[in-house]
Amino acid sequence: MGEPRLKGKVAIVTGAGTGIGEAIAHKFAYEGAAVIVNGLYGDPVRDVAAHIVERGGTAVSIEADVAEERQARECVEFAVSEFGKLDVLVNNAGYFDGMEETQNFPLETFDRLMWANVRSVFLMTKFALPHLQQTRGNIVSAGSEAGFNGIANFTPYGATKAAIHAFMKGVAMEQARYGVRANCVCPGPIDTAWTHKSTGPMDKKTEKMTVSSTPLGRRGTPEEIANVYAFLASAEASYVTGALWLADGGITPAHGNIGDFAKYTDEPEGILRLRHSQDGLKNKPEYARIEGQDGR
Ligand SMILES: NC(=O)c1ccc[n+]([C@@H]2O[C@H](COP(=O)([O-])OP(=O)(O)OC[C@H]3O[C@@H](n4cnc5c(N)ncnc54)[C@H](O)[C@@H]3O)[C@@H](O)[C@H]2O)c1
Repeated sequence: MGEPRLKGKVAIVTGAGTGIGEAIAHKFAYEGAAVIVNGLYGDPVRDVAAHIVERGGTAVSIEADVAEERQARECVEFAVSEFGKLDVLVNNAGYFDGMEETQNFPLETFDRLMWANVRSVFLMTKFALPHLQQTRGNIVSAGSEAGFNGIANFTPYGATKAAIHAFMKGVAMEQARYGVRANCVCPGPIDTAWTHKSTGPMDKKTEKMTVSSTPLGRRGTPEEIANVYAFLASAEASYVTGALWLADGGITPAHGNIGDFAKYTDEPEGILRLRHSQDGLKNKPEYARIEGQDGR
């Protein structure tokens, strides 16, 4: 048996209180990393860090809005002051809202998507790079199949992910001279709050279509995505940089309702014991309108 793949590494995971981020934090700790669990004020980041410690890992938490310049800088400084260095930045924090055709899409929601998804990745990357250059570290950011394919009724969301793809590829080329790698994981529909009509902005039809159009006939689990993050962050991926790594159940090349024909749609059980997979949109006042709406 080999050593854990991230043994001795220090990693920041943004948006790690819930959903895919919680899974990445647990997976990285399982692989031996000391993890800085970041999330917005009110996200269960303390609980995630405590759970990791309970299970024998190393983690600390920090509440910070990483789309805000001072708080992003403080998040990076906190990691370095706690553990003396930084090896991996995971730009996972993100936001998903809308469900309107473009002619009706509110400018306010567009701005919030750009702010949460693009500005956060830029700021964290900017502040982390001087430290990553010292450790020959790497960055893994949350892209999406939507950044390749676009997504009807959520058009600005897809645009934010395409921006992240191009930004990471540019960073990969620019920072290779320092030994710093930069990649994106590009998930398809994942089993978090976002892809359920009861907890996210999708309506009933869109929720059904999302699964039907995925060849594997189901959502991915947060752990299945965390596994790809762990690979890209580890030395096993030492020759991978500038990659947009699809982990999308096959939705990118798919046509029609191919998912309805999948024979094996059971989710793998996994090894991580996650508590907040569906909690991403809890305590978010902008989602208040969704709660209690019948027929969605
Ligand atoms: N769920 C999917 O189907 C899917 C598909 C493709 C890509 N992704 C990407 O994966 C990432 C995680 O999504 P998820 O489904 O786990 O959603 P989620 O809502 O469970 O997790 C996102 C977390 O980021 C936090 N966050 C948002 N803005 C922040 C900020 N400025 N500072 C700090 N924390 C912030 C949120 O509070 C939340 O806890 C996102 O970037 C998303 O775009 C998700």
